[in-house]
Amino acid sequence: MKKIIGFLLVSVFILSIVACSKKKTEEEEVLYVGTNAEFPPFEYLLENDIVGFDVDLVSEIALLIGKKIEFKNIAFDGLLPALQAKKIDIIIAGMTATEERKQFVNFSDKYYVSKQAILVAADNTTIVTFDSLPGKSVGVVLGYTGDIAVSALSDVDIKRYNGTSEAVLALKANKIDAVVVDSEPAKNYSAQNPEIKMLVSDLIEEEYAIALRKDETELLDQINIALQTLKDNGTYDELVIKHFK
Ligand code: ARG
Repeated sequence: MKKIIGFLLVSVFILSIVACSKKKTEEEEVLYVGTNAEFPPFEYLLENDIVGFDVDLVSEIALLIGKKIEFKNIAFDGLLPALQAKKIDIIIAGMTATEERKQFVNFSDKYYVSKQAILVAADNTTIVTFDSLPGKSVGVVLGYTGDIAVSALSDVDIKRYNGTSEAVLALKANKIDAVVVDSEPAKNYSAQNPEIKMLVSDLIEEEYAIALRKDETELLDQINIALQTLKDNGTYDELVIKHFK
């Protein structure tokens, strides 16, 4: 009898350890992904779902590294603070890997090359490049690389907006002369609004990458390997075809 009780106790003990460790790995599996879903075609809201190139790309990465993901939609300038505060584990948001941001976070290998574009009214003939912007009122989105680029120019009347669609609305209402924003979203907005057109600026290229906390080096390696796999096996190209017209 004693033997049986002893055996049962040991079994219960082992089972509870197994259950605990299982629970632990299940908890660890979820990767909280921060984004700002106002940046088509990279991330935007369709009904209530966050969709887009970045969403598909990070979902494929998560499959490869065996993690579940959960998105958190936050203001763009709140993403880096949220990452530092461990409210999210990674950021994918069409975020440019700038030298300034590299001081605070690590970036994965680049997954997209972009540049800044200028949106103007379709009948505007006075603005042709960045050199035409001094003396004009120019809309940018707070904290975006377009904001940084236009802020570096002298003599521009900068108007800062909380999102690209807000800046585009101001342009359509003739409140500003131009909007400077990343080329892919600019292409999207100009395609949807015939009253505005896009000029591709001569600004240097920017590279989008996934941001992680500096100490997450193992996750960084896993993400980079997954990214390479997706480029090699054709998945990356399929996503480009799906999201960029
Ligand atoms: N590439 C620009 C930057 O890094 C804009 C990114 C905006 N992304 C977004 N999901 N709202 O500043």
